[in-house]
Amino acid sequence: MPVDEVVQQARRDLAPVPRVPGAPKADAMLVADGVRRSFGGVNAVDVEHLEVQRHVITALIGPNGAGKTTFFNLMTGFDKPDAGRWDFDGTPLAGVAASRVAKTGMVRTFQLTKALARMTVLDNMRLGARSQPGEGLFTALVKPLWAPREREITDKAMTLLERFKLDAKKDDFAGSLSGGQRKLLEMARALMSDPTLVMLDEPMAGVNPALTQSLLGHITDLRDTGTTVLFVEHDMHMVRHISDWVVVMAQGQVVAEGPPSEVMADQAVIDAYLGAHHDMDLGDDTLLDEGSVIDAEADAEAAAEVTTSPEEKAP
Ligand SMILES: Nc1ncnc2c1ncn2[C@@H]1O[C@H](COP(=O)(O)OP(=O)(O)OP(=O)(O)O)[C@@H](O)[C@H]1O
Ligand SMILES: [Mg+2]
Repeated sequence: MPVDEVVQQARRDLAPVPRVPGAPKADAMLVADGVRRSFGGVNAVDVEHLEVQRHVITALIGPNGAGKTTFFNLMTGFDKPDAGRWDFDGTPLAGVAASRVAKTGMVRTFQLTKALARMTVLDNMRLGARSQPGEGLFTALVKPLWAPREREITDKAMTLLERFKLDAKKDDFAGSLSGGQRKLLEMARALMSDPTLVMLDEPMAGVNPALTQSLLGHITDLRDTGTTVLFVEHDMHMVRHISDWVVVMAQGQVVAEGPPSEVMADQAVIDAYLGAHHDMDLGDDTLLDEGSVIDAEADAEAAAEVTTSPEEKAP
């Protein structure tokens, strides 16, 4: 089946899914059960059950401290849970180290960008490659064994840098890029390992208006070329605009899930946000029909965000 039909089918599959936390999906790629993580008595994550549908864009939303990043950390092996199991594409991943999780096809980006500032853009990309035979001692000593693979990696890195319009910056230090360009670099680097599920932690935060639309385009492109996307975002206009399904976390738990327009009209969701976030803008559906209005608003918001770079936010 062509990719666009696969995506359409996956989106149709969501229509009958019950609007309850932990609802089963027709084609779940990631399934988590009883995943718990506490920090000094605070239940950062306490997810009873969650299924992420393959081939769609799922947004994970929730107030600050809801446990979204911790959930990403756990799923991708960057942190260990107190309890729980999860399967990615049928493979149990609890207890599996981050480097091995990435090899199964699930990769993530970070809320605070992890691009290595004193390394060039191209070298940052090359670090994202799935396997580097040159790293083994024997192969490292025998150039013919790694040289072709190195070339392949460089070619792939350059193709991705072109796609993300960073090719002209390939020899610049990553530290010289703007916040938005670093977000693009993170995304491009994540794609070096040909992931089947990409988890993006606040991809839009700190991105200037000139890059907002292109970032949105890159995210929908990922889905439309067959990659499943799970992303965390606070900008509700963005969430409404590009997600097929929304999962809401509050105090570590999944408290709601459903299509964006339904979830954002849900009283429990509004309460979860307003409890912590009195000025939270949940977005307005009427704006969705007027592309120019939402774009102008999103751009104004992004412009405001730029003044506080996410790198300056405490972890
Ligand atoms: N390493 C840590 N040590 C102690 N507490 C932590 C740690 N990581 C997270 N927490 C706590 O766990 C809870 C969940 O944090 P987390 O960063 O996962 O939230 P979040 O939903 O990503 O929030 P935000 O939207 O602000 O990024 C918070 O109470 C946070 O203070
Ligand atoms: Mg976070």
